[in-house]
Amino acid sequence: MTKIITLDGPSGSGKGTVGRALAIDLGFNYLDSGLLYRSLALNALINHLDLNDEFGIAATVNDVSLEFSLCSPVVTLNGADVTDEIRSERVSLASSKIAKYSLVRKRLVDFQRKFSRGDGLIADGRDMGSVIFPSADLKIFLTASVKVRAVRRYKELIARGENVSLRDLERRIALRDKGDRERKVSPLIAGEGAIVIDASEKSVNEVKKEIIHYFDLIPSV
Ligand code: C5P
Repeated sequence: MTKIITLDGPSGSGKGTVGRALAIDLGFNYLDSGLLYRSLALNALINHLDLNDEFGIAATVNDVSLEFSLCSPVVTLNGADVTDEIRSERVSLASSKIAKYSLVRKRLVDFQRKFSRGDGLIADGRDMGSVIFPSADLKIFLTASVKVRAVRRYKELIARGENVSLRDLERRIALRDKGDRERKVSPLIAGEGAIVIDASEKSVNEVKKEIIHYFDLIPSV
């Protein structure tokens, strides 16, 4: 049986780094579901599609071929290397916008569930424990203060040469959180049975160890 650990939480909480490290340590698959929304958003921006058109965006789900791997940061979209672009601020904002569309979300459900194979899966996102894998073996909700998340994102964007102000980022992160939390479909919530970890004052390694500790407590593991 494939073991599933869901790792939900707001952007910048460290889910990506912790999730990848966990997947490598445990020998599990890794699903970065945010990348799916990002790829649809980037594809829409590249092709000048209307981001307000739910039907139009949902219709592109099968046009987008996304490739990413656990061991490499490289992401390709329809064969083109979009590693930098896909994590840019404009794609973050656009992805949050299209993630509100129930039609888009519905069309991504089966694709995401197919990542559950082999020994196990680390599923990273917003609705992994609540919607996509409701019977996961372990559900984690990873969070951190807006300030801590903004500083992390600031360092990441500056390192990539994007010109941003910390105050602006804090504001945008808070706004994106609000949108993710308050949307009608698959809102960002610590679902039933999820263990909440506040990573504001913790290193990646500490969070990873904590999750492995909870995983080891599962009787059938
Ligand atoms: O995690 P990441 O920041 O890459 O996700 C980009 C956007 O995709 C988020 O702001 C969120 O709106 C959306 N998302 C989502 N459900 C997921 C993963 C991401 O709505 N499972």
